[in-house]
Amino acid sequence: MTPGNRDEDGAMANPDGGKDKQWRVAVLPGDGIGPEVMAVTVEALRALAEQGGPDLVLDELPWPSHRWHRDNGRIMPEDWHAVLSGYDAILLGALGDPGPSSDPGRYLLPDAVSLAPLLDIRKGFDQWACERPAMLLEGAPRYLADERARDLDMLVIRENSEGEYVGQGGRLAPGSPREVATQMEVFTRAGAERIFRHAFERAAARAGERRAGQRRDRQFPLPDGGTAHAQVCLVTKRNALRYWGEMYTEVFAAVAEEFPDVATHHELVDAACMKFVMSPWQFDVVVASNLQGDILTDLAAVLSGGMGVAPSCNLNPSDRRQPPMFEPTHGSAPDIAGQNLAGPQAMLLTAAMMLDWMGEEDARAARAASRLRTAVESDLRVHGTAQRATTVIGEAVVKALEAV
Ligand code: IPM
Ligand code: MN
Repeated sequence: MTPGNRDEDGAMANPDGGKDKQWRVAVLPGDGIGPEVMAVTVEALRALAEQGGPDLVLDELPWPSHRWHRDNGRIMPEDWHAVLSGYDAILLGALGDPGPSSDPGRYLLPDAVSLAPLLDIRKGFDQWACERPAMLLEGAPRYLADERARDLDMLVIRENSEGEYVGQGGRLAPGSPREVATQMEVFTRAGAERIFRHAFERAAARAGERRAGQRRDRQFPLPDGGTAHAQVCLVTKRNALRYWGEMYTEVFAAVAEEFPDVATHHELVDAACMKFVMSPWQFDVVVASNLQGDILTDLAAVLSGGMGVAPSCNLNPSDRRQPPMFEPTHGSAPDIAGQNLAGPQAMLLTAAMMLDWMGEEDARAARAASRLRTAVESDLRVHGTAQRATTVIGEAVVKALEAV
């Protein structure tokens, strides 16, 4: 395939008379439960495409994975960037320990090798915004006793290109008593500005949905005494990590001025952890650094019913030609891998996020996103957390599509 040929890709007439493009998706099932939840998701996507959904080409690639490493001595081919550049989007299952944990002889790589593709792909396509929504779906486990936890409607946006994850540093005199390890954190004004503006744009869109009755309404106080329908909360640790904390605070305030109808708030990350548990319904859009966002999104995932239902995506909102990567927040779950036991809901909801992203250009994809989400939600409402096989849930979701 030719990298960078997406714009010319098979645009075709649709029944509405518009031009809808063909979407080329690199499907990377990965390790552990990845291939199991991906198989079910590909079935659902094919069903949607056949039922008037978007025109999808789903190409399954055998890497990155432990198996590919065993056979080729690397986790991805050398030309991975060029290959993935030929796609509009990347759909990834899970990376890490392939399991099953009960097999001590399995081919196992260090995390730094098996998970590196996640960071390489995010960096390689400058996927600088990681979005992880958290809503409590009916039927999903509810870990908080407070009834108000049902009203959770949060979008955590994680800075995904710099901060604590730049991978600069090293080990001096490794293994010796005088060893020194350094791990650099890098924060740039440009990086802060783009992620904050993105967070405010998302918040403004949520406010619009709330005013239009498409999302449960929320009210947040504005400094002038008025009321906003959306809020962005900045998270830092500026009382201890003052340099980037102060720069973030200044840039956030400057960007906020462009969005007078969106309320603002700040939390220190430790207090944010406490408040996510005590009163998560008070949060709307939350924006955090790479590491702090990583930690907060595991917590937010639990509030929304656990890793089994938590979707995620990595986007480059400033350049839609860079393929985004859609991957559930969960890992490879080696303890249950290969047993047809994994809940595919997180992967299915992640695929719905991919369709949402396509839906910004393609009405058929937007409709497919909402159908898929409704089908997953209705299945969850009926069956809750009852133990069912991955394939059984997948078939039930495809069946439920008929009704929506
Ligand atoms: C995530 C994961 C990754 C991260 C790991 C596996 C590198 O925890 O996607 O949240 O920290 O970004
Ligand atoms: Mn994580």
